[in-house]
Amino acid sequence: MVNILISSVKGGVGKSTVTAELVSSLKRTNEKYSYIDLDFQGDPMYETSINENAVVTVIDTPPGMSENLARWQQSADILVIPTLMTARDMIPLQTMRDIVKVNFTGQTLYVLNRWDRFNASKDFVTWFNQLPDTDNRVLLPQSTVFARASEYQESVVTFAKRSPAAVAVMEMVNKVRRMAGLPEESIL
Ligand SMILES: Nc1ncnc2c1ncn2[C@@H]1O[C@H](COP(=O)(O)OP(=O)(O)O)[C@@H](O)[C@H]1O
Ligand SMILES: [Mg+2]
Repeated sequence: MVNILISSVKGGVGKSTVTAELVSSLKRTNEKYSYIDLDFQGDPMYETSINENAVVTVIDTPPGMSENLARWQQSADILVIPTLMTARDMIPLQTMRDIVKVNFTGQTLYVLNRWDRFNASKDFVTWFNQLPDTDNRVLLPQSTVFARASEYQESVVTFAKRSPAAVAVMEMVNKVRRMAGLPEESIL
């Protein structure tokens, strides 16, 4: 069983969005999965569901630096860290990296979220690019498709198939699926 933890110390960076898209992909391909929502403040697309035969468990987490964060990381195999790309995201992401360094030994994927040329700070990009272990990354564009799809409790992949958001999400879910040893989902 592969545990995938979606986590960041900062809220509003896309944890629940990323989680919902991962679960949607697993659902579309009939994978056996469990989904656990540890963030009771959120408004998730899916309800927590446990499958005894699950090959993969997807876990969404609340923001903040709880003691639990360390414990959850210790039992994760794959850590997905969404972040925005503004100058104000550098310190929270560094804090997250410090916690990860102590508690996590598995594979990490960075999701650079809400990307567009206006809200990606040069300072962030320069800093992020010189970090030693951030090659495994994927960009998700800033797009109203995310909010519109979630109004219908739908994945952007089925809601707006040909949108840049859907293409980027497919790349993201397939990266995670490869990391978890699952077959890729083919593009519709
Ligand atoms: N790439 C994106 N473009 C536009 N809006 C986004 C994007 N990613 C997330 N959002 C929106 O930002 C808000 C916060 O995202 P959410 O996934 O709930 O963050 P978190 O779980 O980290 O608090 C939501 O309203 C979501 O629809
Ligand atoms: Mg959330």
